Amino acid sequence: MKLEIDQQRLNSEIETLAAFSDAEPPAVTRIVFTPMDLKARAWVISRCEEAGLTMRQDAIGNIFARWSGADPSAPAVGTGSHIDAIPNAGKYDGVVGVLGGLEATRVLQRSGFRPRNSIELLVFATEEPTRFGIGCLGSRLLSGTLSAEAAAKLKDRDGESVDEVRRKAGFNGNLQEVKLPKGYYKAFVELHIEQGPLLERAQISLGIVKSIAAPASLRISIEGAGGHAGGVLMPDRKDALCAAADLILAIENAARSSGAADTVATVGVCDVFPGAVNSIPSRVGMTLDIRDTDLARRDGAMQTIERASHNIEVERHVSIHSEILNADAPADCAPEVRAALSDSCREHEFPFLEIMSRAYHDSLFVSRIAPTGMLFIPCRSGYSHRPDEYAAPEDIARGALVLAESLAKLSA
Ligand code: GLV
Ligand code: MN
Ligand code: MN
Repeated sequence: MKLEIDQQRLNSEIETLAAFSDAEPPAVTRIVFTPMDLKARAWVISRCEEAGLTMRQDAIGNIFARWSGADPSAPAVGTGSHIDAIPNAGKYDGVVGVLGGLEATRVLQRSGFRPRNSIELLVFATEEPTRFGIGCLGSRLLSGTLSAEAAAKLKDRDGESVDEVRRKAGFNGNLQEVKLPKGYYKAFVELHIEQGPLLERAQISLGIVKSIAAPASLRISIEGAGGHAGGVLMPDRKDALCAAADLILAIENAARSSGAADTVATVGVCDVFPGAVNSIPSRVGMTLDIRDTDLARRDGAMQTIERASHNIEVERHVSIHSEILNADAPADCAPEVRAALSDSCREHEFPFLEIMSRAYHDSLFVSRIAPTGMLFIPCRSGYSHRPDEYAAPEDIARGALVLAESLAKLSA
C-alpha cells in the first residue's frame, strides 16, 4: 500500500482553520463554545462530511467522524485531538492531530484500503482549561474519569456553568450519555506537536510517546485586607498580592528543588482585587499548574507548596485557600500502539525518538479505557501556546503518513 499524503491540501486546511480566531494573526484564540469556536467546528464538520464520514456529536460537544469498517460492530480504531485554543496561541496545537487525522483517513480511502474495524476521527471538546479551569472535559467524560454531575457544575469566569454554556451552544443531550460503552475503541492514536525542544535538538522528525506526565491544577485564593495606599502604614498591612508574590516564588522553588527537571510548576493567572493603583490589594485569585512524570514526586512538590502556604499565612496575616481542580495520574502508552507506530517508521527508515509527553492530552484520559499511543512531530524551538508556534509542512505530512499506516495496521 503506497500512501501519498496531500501535504498542500493539509497545510492549506491548517491555514484556513487558523483564520477562525478571536486574535490578530498569527495569534489564534479559540475558546470553547464561543461563536468563533462554533464556526470552526462547523467548518471541520463540513471537511469530514466531504470525506464521506458519518458524523455524530455528543452532549459535551465531542465530534465523532466515522469511516465504517467491514465489521461495523467491531470496536473502532480512533484518532484525533482538539481545535480549541488558549488565548494568544498558535495554529498547530491540537489542529495537527485533527486535520492530520482527517488527511490520514482520506489517504487510506484514496489508496483503496478497506478497514475491518471502523476508523473514527474524534475532535475532543474543551481540551484547554481556559474556560472551565480544568482541561480535557470531553475526554474525561467519555472515559468516565469525571462524572456528568461534577462536569455540569463547573463554572467559567462569568459564573456560567458547563451545563448552561453547552446548552446555549446547542448541545442539549444528556451528559450521562457521553461516557463510551466498554470496549468502544480497539486502539487510539493521537498525532500532536511535541510542545518541547527534544526532537528538534536531536534532529529527529518523529517521537513515539512512552508515557504522558501527571498534571494537577489548583485554584488558590488569598484574602488579606485592603485600604488606602497612602494611609495604611507598612507594619499594619495584610497585602494579598505581597503574599501571592511569596507564594509564587515558593511554588517555583518547590519545582526547582524537587530533584528532577521533570517537575514543572506555573502560576499563569493572577487576578488582583480591587486592582486600583492607590489601593492595597485585599484579594488575589491565582491558579497553579504542576506536573511531573513521576506521581509521587509531583505530590511531594504539592505538599511542599502547602507547607509554604501555611507559613505565608502566619507571616503575612492573610488566609490562603486552595482547591484542587484535578490531580491526574500519568499514563503509559500501549505496547501494541507503540509497535504499530514504530513498525511504520522502520518500514520507511524514518528515525524516531522514544519520548515522554510533558504536556497532557486527551490521550491521557482515553488511555483509561483503550490501548492508546501518541506520535509527536517537532515544533520550532519547542514553542507552543504562543503565536510563533510552528511545525514544518513536511513534518506534519510525515506524521500524518505514519499515523495513517498505524491506523491501517490497527484496523486491518
Ligand atoms: C495542554 O494544553 C497542556 O497544557 O498540556
Ligand atoms: Mn494546548
Ligand atoms: Mn494540545
